[in-house]
Amino acid sequence: MTFSLKNIESNHAKQLFKDNENTSVENTHVESSPVGIDRISFTTPHYYVDLTDLAKAREIDPNKFTIGIGQSEQSVPPNNQDIVTLGAQAALPLLKYVKKDKLKMLIVGTESGVDASKSSALYIHNLLKLNSCARCIEIKEACYGGTAALMTACDYVRVHKDSQVLVIAADIARYGLNTPGEVTQGAGAVAMLISANPHVLKINDDSVVKSCDIQDFWRPVYQDTALARGKFSSEKYIEFFLDVWQKYSEQNSCDLNDFAALCFHLPYTKMGLKALRAAMDSSENLSETSRVRLLEKYETSTKYSRRIGNIYTGSLYLGLLSLLELDGNPEIANPEVVNPGAANPAATSIQTSTIQTNSSCENQKFSSLKEGDKIGLFSYGSGAIGEFFTGTLMQGFKQALFASEHIEMLNSRAKLTVSEYEKMFNSVAKYCPEDFVSDTTHRDCTQFFLNSISSQERNYI
Ligand code: COA
Repeated sequence: MTFSLKNIESNHAKQLFKDNENTSVENTHVESSPVGIDRISFTTPHYYVDLTDLAKAREIDPNKFTIGIGQSEQSVPPNNQDIVTLGAQAALPLLKYVKKDKLKMLIVGTESGVDASKSSALYIHNLLKLNSCARCIEIKEACYGGTAALMTACDYVRVHKDSQVLVIAADIARYGLNTPGEVTQGAGAVAMLISANPHVLKINDDSVVKSCDIQDFWRPVYQDTALARGKFSSEKYIEFFLDVWQKYSEQNSCDLNDFAALCFHLPYTKMGLKALRAAMDSSENLSETSRVRLLEKYETSTKYSRRIGNIYTGSLYLGLLSLLELDGNPEIANPEVVNPGAANPAATSIQTSTIQTNSSCENQKFSSLKEGDKIGLFSYGSGAIGEFFTGTLMQGFKQALFASEHIEMLNSRAKLTVSEYEKMFNSVAKYCPEDFVSDTTHRDCTQFFLNSISSQERNYI
């Protein structure tokens, strides 16, 4: 049988048409299956320092920390914890939802990596006994790494809709004792299982990104504390947010009234509030109801961070968790409610006064978040990248959360004195070739430990 060129062309064209038909059918199907966060959990070290104690020790007015910065407590990791152990611990509750043959990737977003070459995802993969077919990688771009991981995961699942991807955002924020950044330290990890038909939040494919090479915050590879131009980084954060938000609202013909809540990267809780206020101030048609709702939901989104501190890559997602888990009952995460004897009446009024409401709307309580509500998320990583994207709440999302476990974890932490905190801070494994044996005490409430470093190899149990 012979084919003329015409036949070949037309057969080729038919095949192409068929391929395109298949593609478009598949694309339509992929787009109609929501992709996003199926399950989400976090962990933070069992130890914390009270920031009023720290302020007094540093001879600073505690109001600067609790009002000016907006932080009350700070998680402190013992030297047997690092981003590997925190990341593995955060992912533990998600394991029963992982279908072994479907898990195709484990992506860790971090700027506290334990090795300049080997991915921390491989250590976590081993600790969690995950299947060997999953790719294990680490993504770095300051506090944006968790979002880069989430976006990569969603894109992968949109193409491979039967797959799952485990995203972990883990960090230990260290600026150093007696530095301006000390009050904004913290430690923790957020783990997210990404799949089609998620139970918690559909991630919409609508990101607006801004990238620009600036020098607001960085950490040379030979040291474990960050260098920051603090005020410059705060200004850039707001500038990046306003730029991506404006572009997003133009591209999507929407405004702040369309959002049930906005969540922000929270290096400290006052930071996101400054950005939110800047957007509200420049909004021409923001209703008073929306203004008060957004402020109230913002306050709820900061409850966990206020008690944990900055967890860099995970901070935006810690804010999202705080919003979703505490919405309707934010008081349960207040330290003074948990331990009324420790309540500082001044601090209580300070905390609530960080958000000023208009008298006509004062004490107004907004309805709880519900299926279909749109949440805006702003991710910022110094250096710098800003990204604004949105999520839509799924039916029954509340039942898919681990709220009571998280609140219990926070409320059962052990308080350190300032000198205990300083000792713990200074006892961390150094960036040097010396062998290291970690603390055999301070091993409460966690399953994984950095046991030692011998001949420059890390040993986890
Ligand atoms: N009572 C109430 N508020 C007080 C106060 C007091 N006694 N003393 C100071 N404040 C307020 C200040 O007015 C200021 O508020 P404002 O920002 O709304 O103007 C706030 O507390 C901070 O004071 P400031 O003097 O600016 O703090 P600082 O020079 O110590 O630096 C950071 C604060 C956040 C810049 C610093 O902690 C830092 O460098 N952090 C790390 C980098 C970072 O987190 N960057 C964020 C973007 S990623």
